[in-house]
Amino acid sequence: MNEQILNETARAMVAEGRGILAADESTGTIEKRFKSIGVENTEPNRRAYRDMLFTTPGFEQYTSGVILFEETLFQSALDGTPFPKLLASKGVIPGIKVDKGAKPLAGAADELVTEGLDGLRERLVKYKEAGARFAKWRAVITIGDGIPSDYCIHANAHALARYAALCQEADIVPIVEPEVLMDADNTIEVCASVTDRTLEAVFHELHGQRVLLEGMVLKPNMVISGKKCPQQADRETVARATLRVLKRRVPAAVPGIAFLSGGQSDEDATAHLDIMNKLGPHPWKLTFSYGRALQAAALKAWGGGNADAGRKAHLHRAKMNGLAALGRWEPALEKAA
Ligand code: 13P
Repeated sequence: MNEQILNETARAMVAEGRGILAADESTGTIEKRFKSIGVENTEPNRRAYRDMLFTTPGFEQYTSGVILFEETLFQSALDGTPFPKLLASKGVIPGIKVDKGAKPLAGAADELVTEGLDGLRERLVKYKEAGARFAKWRAVITIGDGIPSDYCIHANAHALARYAALCQEADIVPIVEPEVLMDADNTIEVCASVTDRTLEAVFHELHGQRVLLEGMVLKPNMVISGKKCPQQADRETVARATLRVLKRRVPAAVPGIAFLSGGQSDEDATAHLDIMNKLGPHPWKLTFSYGRALQAAALKAWGGGNADAGRKAHLHRAKMNGLAALGRWEPALEKAA
């Protein structure tokens, strides 16, 4: 493990005014996204879509890294350049999703555990050769009647730490992503308490498994009302509640926190990040690692063939989130565009 390489990469991933594009949808997930615009889920279409995103002129100003799905890591852009090489040539760090998805947790109805540890050490060598310098593993914590159980939280935290330790052994920075889902009818207070329990368990395991905090990036959910909760907390409340939990649970040695968007509207995801940064300074950088909130508008504008419209929409969201990472976004900037 090279501590300096890990720390340098982690800091570059959360560099001033830049964040991460999560474009690592599995073949099943991208199928859902393509279906929404009536595009067939074929290898050439997936390649053309990712090509559109990664050839957006100027997106690198706001984008420090891109998380790729395994297929994309080994694919080439339409001009024949391997995608990781294309990204690196723009100063964008290529990363790779390495988990194999969330599966039912034995003996725990409605709860999930993320798989993918078997053979991971060997896969990381391959990914590094292909140009990946960081990785992602997403654990899913579901809120519901009597859940999450401590069993589920601990099984997921343990796996996240095992993954993170393996990444660091290979000088690959782990993005540690424990996602508390926001789909239920719970209040923001319940989300705060579940996120608190989850992060406590995650950092306990990371410490126990000798993970270098200076060489990782945390990718958490924001503390937010469940989508079906009738009482939706406002933006300022979300920002303050998220900061409260993070300050209690995330050591200052962690260089940065890059949030997932988790189904928030594009503008909410931007506004929440912006308010948190306006409330700074904080011990860690606060930025984005959005999938849907960076891609939804671009996907729609692209529609299967209009690359220029897709790029324009992508650049706009990247810029808005880049400004939010600095605490310099204003709602008026959306209307101006
Ligand atoms: P969303 O921003 O759409 O939640 O996706 C981020 C991600 O990478 C989830 O693992």
